[in-house]
Amino acid sequence: SPRYLKDYQAPDYKISNVNLTIQLDDTKTIVTNVMDVTKASEHQRALVLDGEHMQLKSVMVNDTKLDRSQYQLSDSTLSIANLPEQFILTITTEINPVANTALEGLYKSADVYCTQCEAEGFRRITYFLDRPDVMAIYTTKIIADKTSFPFLLANGNKIEQGELANNLHFVTWHDPFPKPCYLFALVAGDFELLTDTFTTKSGREVNLELFVDKGNLSRSEHAMASLKKSMLWDEQQFNLEYDLDIYMIVAVDFFNMGAMENKGLNVFNSKFVLADDLSATDDDFFNVEAVIAHEYFHNWTGNRVTCRDWFQLSLKEGLTVFRDQQFSADMHSSAVTRIKNVKIVRAQQFAEDAGPMAHPIRPEKVMEMNNFYTLTVYEKGSEVIRMMHTILGDDAFKAGIELYFERHDGQAVTCDDFVAAMSDASNTCLSQFKYWYSQSGTPVLIVSDDYHEETNTYQLTIEQSHPQTHDKQEKQNLHIPVNFELISNDENDNQQGLLHCKQQKQTWTFENVSSKPVPALLGNFSAPVKLNYHYDDQALNTLMVNAADEFNRWDAGQKLFAGYIKQLINNPELELPLQVASALEQVLLSNADNAFKAEQLVLPSFDEMAAAIDEVNSGALVRAISILKRFIAQQLQSHFLHTYQSLCTSEFAKDGQAIGNRALKNVCLDYLALLDSANELALNQFKQANNMTDQLAAIKVAAVNDLRCFEDVMVEFARQWQGNTLVMDKWFTINALHNNENVVQRIIGLLEHPEFSIDNPNRARALIGAFAFYNSKYFHHQDGSGYEFLFAQLVKLNTINPQVASRLITPLIQFKSFDKTQQKLMKAELEKLSRLDNLSRDLIEKLDAALQ
Ligand code: ARG
Ligand code: ZN
Repeated sequence: SPRYLKDYQAPDYKISNVNLTIQLDDTKTIVTNVMDVTKASEHQRALVLDGEHMQLKSVMVNDTKLDRSQYQLSDSTLSIANLPEQFILTITTEINPVANTALEGLYKSADVYCTQCEAEGFRRITYFLDRPDVMAIYTTKIIADKTSFPFLLANGNKIEQGELANNLHFVTWHDPFPKPCYLFALVAGDFELLTDTFTTKSGREVNLELFVDKGNLSRSEHAMASLKKSMLWDEQQFNLEYDLDIYMIVAVDFFNMGAMENKGLNVFNSKFVLADDLSATDDDFFNVEAVIAHEYFHNWTGNRVTCRDWFQLSLKEGLTVFRDQQFSADMHSSAVTRIKNVKIVRAQQFAEDAGPMAHPIRPEKVMEMNNFYTLTVYEKGSEVIRMMHTILGDDAFKAGIELYFERHDGQAVTCDDFVAAMSDASNTCLSQFKYWYSQSGTPVLIVSDDYHEETNTYQLTIEQSHPQTHDKQEKQNLHIPVNFELISNDENDNQQGLLHCKQQKQTWTFENVSSKPVPALLGNFSAPVKLNYHYDDQALNTLMVNAADEFNRWDAGQKLFAGYIKQLINNPELELPLQVASALEQVLLSNADNAFKAEQLVLPSFDEMAAAIDEVNSGALVRAISILKRFIAQQLQSHFLHTYQSLCTSEFAKDGQAIGNRALKNVCLDYLALLDSANELALNQFKQANNMTDQLAAIKVAAVNDLRCFEDVMVEFARQWQGNTLVMDKWFTINALHNNENVVQRIIGLLEHPEFSIDNPNRARALIGAFAFYNSKYFHHQDGSGYEFLFAQLVKLNTINPQVASRLITPLIQFKSFDKTQQKLMKAELEKLSRLDNLSRDLIEKLDAALQ
């Protein structure tokens, strides 16, 4: 049964101190939890603690052990009545970390014990008020075998350690900052350790410790460097300084998400820590830095100020994503970074907002909280913060952040509190803006314009429209910031600025415009909306060349391509005009930086197009994209070849320019792979590659074009990288992308590969997820074999790891984007799933929404 935001009530009891003793064991870990509890007000209500998947051993109030009649136990709660105002509660539980394949609570990842408590995993470790508005000071004593687990880690500072009988040892940690239990963490294992220090702006020295599996030390330097950059950036940009004497990061191979910001002890998916020149791509390096930054930034936006309840998740996630995006933009090309952000929103968040799980960035109804770590809460949440930044300006925004911390440091608060701080610090009314928090769906801006030669005036009319969403909300008009540029024949006439759309329909009049301008709207993607305005090819060409905003230049190209892809869906015989290619020729010959050029040359993805079209026939869409791509490849063959060759250098470097060069080179390869010399080019690049970006690009074009060399390079790649988990994930992914009618059989075969294990989320995502999300042609094959394959995997994952299952079901529940025939096939698989009798709550929630 779901929970509702409107039903929030403050807790009846407070827990101020938590004293944990955890004696680790593979199948019988004993947790003793001593808590200081007080009633939050005068009342006689029972204390109802959350707890699941564990065995209760004993309950003690002060010095009295309770007998079985003095408490009530259900599947998910422990209730104790007749309690005094204030007492010490001691609870002992037994848990089985090895059996924990859901990777929530305490589990074993290879030879390491670790925890994941957000959102509601702490209740799998001990009975507790598992909600973020219960904040306590934690002391944690860990006991384990000294030989197998030399490192015993928890939040805060190490205060004691020692030896015990039977080759055991212990370490005690104390975290002086009150925190909700979702930020609790414990790690035990044997590691290689990279250490460094960072001196904060006020002169305190912080020990930085990064723990990785043995043999991986040389791959941990980039993560450490990224951490130090993040610490400095947060001081310089937001005046936010780190607060403990130690900051630890542990990399583990089994992890449901990217990483977790536990106070002073981040636990990371090793994918977002480990990177070296030979085994990591440029994107991997970028992502490691971004995730390290994200988790570090949470220390203030998330930990020092946390969420009152889980409906407020975007309070910390939207804000922290915005902060990590700004950080990445400062570390790299800001335009290219912004383009990467926008592609995710348009391709994936828009699809979520149009599908059965559509929800506002602050959801109102939740059944399984893990289902709400979504693109909407994170990415749209970040866009909402960014819009405030755009509306208020950088200075006022930063003043708002300062006021937010002044008011709320140490508290668990709401999104309303955040907006209030922004509004008060800037003296700006944000009451209409706040509908962004409560309203789901992607707004559409319908734009029309008029030029009056007699008066030299130009009128722009913007109408906002709010499509019906699955959660059947009534929609309000929003405050939508629209960056605009008017591009005229005479450059001196160009105007730019910010429009505040607030009414259903609004018109702006611009004076002294001597000829009809081309409007460029939503510069830098100033709002997460769709735009409906008819541009002809010539207008788009003008924008591609003359728009001041780089994002607008890129976006005009995307619109040009999208227009032709749409036409080609209905008419594959369409004669494509040469201007399409010549627009790209201009791009290739321009003096923009190569990273940006590479983005300009990439066509909109299948997902982006699918999110923009109603009831698309997936086969027709795949074909349309490939016709356009082939046309461009043929028209610009010599340019692509020339550019490609000029960028084939033998030296490896990792600066921005070198990264941009590789990006452009590999986009050229991607086009050239559609032409005659494809096999030779791919094979050569594969053989000569001295870095993973080039090597992977070569095998990827071999896979997606089903080139002759494909099987050989795959064998060679596997031989070279066997045993390197992260690189083998890439190998599994490339298999899943094979553009060949036997791909499903190939993947079914790989499920039996000695290096495949469905228990490992990275592996499962690399093979099963990559197929379902990125092999659009065969996942959506009309014979339904792709859907059926996913169904069979979801049946297994449902019991092994519901969170992973719930992510991988996404492409099936978004059936509404596709035509009726496909919808039927997709729904049939969902119905089969819904008939399973051991369905996890995660899948029940999504299936209910999808099939309702
Ligand atoms: N707070 C983490 C982050 O964004 C993600 C934790 C997700 N946990 C989950 N159970 N879905 O950095
Ligand atoms: Zn986060």
